[in-house]
Amino acid sequence: MGNVYVFDHPLIQHKTAMIRKKETSVKDFRELVREISMLMGYEATRKLPLEEVKITTPICDTTVNMLKGEDIAIVPILRAGLGMVDGMLALVPNAKVGHIGLYRDPQTHEPIEYYCKLPNDIDKREIFVVDPMLATGGSAAAAIDFIKERGGRKIIFMCLIAAPEGIEVLQKAHPDVDIFIAAKDERLNEHAYIVPGLGDAGDRLYGTK
Ligand code: PRP
Ligand code: URA
Repeated sequence: MGNVYVFDHPLIQHKTAMIRKKETSVKDFRELVREISMLMGYEATRKLPLEEVKITTPICDTTVNMLKGEDIAIVPILRAGLGMVDGMLALVPNAKVGHIGLYRDPQTHEPIEYYCKLPNDIDKREIFVVDPMLATGGSAAAAIDFIKERGGRKIIFMCLIAAPEGIEVLQKAHPDVDIFIAAKDERLNEHAYIVPGLGDAGDRLYGTK
C-alpha cells in the first residue's frame, strides 16, 4: 500500500486555513495555492533520483549530486490542478508538464475525460499528479488510470484537501502511489463536496462563480 503523508507544518496549516475562508479573494486564493504547492513539493520530491555530475568550483574540480530535472513530469488534473503547477515548477523548473482534463458529471459524480496530453517519454519519468481536491477519489483514480495506460509507472499524487473516502478509493485503485495531502478533512456531503473543505477549487481559482 502506498504511503499517505498529511502535513503538520505550521506554514502549510496556516495557508490551508486561509484558502478555506470564503472571503479569501481569487487573487489571494491563487497565490496561496501556489505557495502551499511549493511547500508540499519540497517534501514530496524527497525521493527524487540524483545523478553525479562533475563540476569545477573556484577552488577545484569535484563531483556533486544534481537532480535529473529532465526526468520529472508534473501532471495537473484540469482545471483546478493547474493552480498547483507553478509552485512545483518553482522547485523543478526543467520538469515537463502533461495535462489531463476531467470533470465530474454533476449527476453521477463520475469523472469524464475530455483531454489528455502527456510527455512522449512519460514511462521514464517521475510523475507528480496534482489536484487541489481529493473528494470521492474518482477523478484522481481515473487520471492515474489514464497515465498508466500511456505507460506512466512512477507516480505520486499531491492534493491540498482530501476526504477520507477519497483517500481510501485512491489507495485501493492505486496501491503503488504515495499520496501527499496538506489537510485531511472530515467527510463528503450529499453533493460529494468535502466538509469543511473550501468549496469548488476550480471556481475559487478562476473566479467562475
Ligand atoms: C474537482 C477537483 C477534482 C475533483 C475531485 O474538479 O479539482 O478534480 O473535483 O472530486 P472527486 O475526487 O470526487 O473526483 P471538478 O470536477 O470540479 O472540475 P474543475 O477542476 O474543472 O472545476
Ligand atoms: N471538488 C471541489 O472542487 N471541491 C470539493 O469539495 C469536491 C470536489
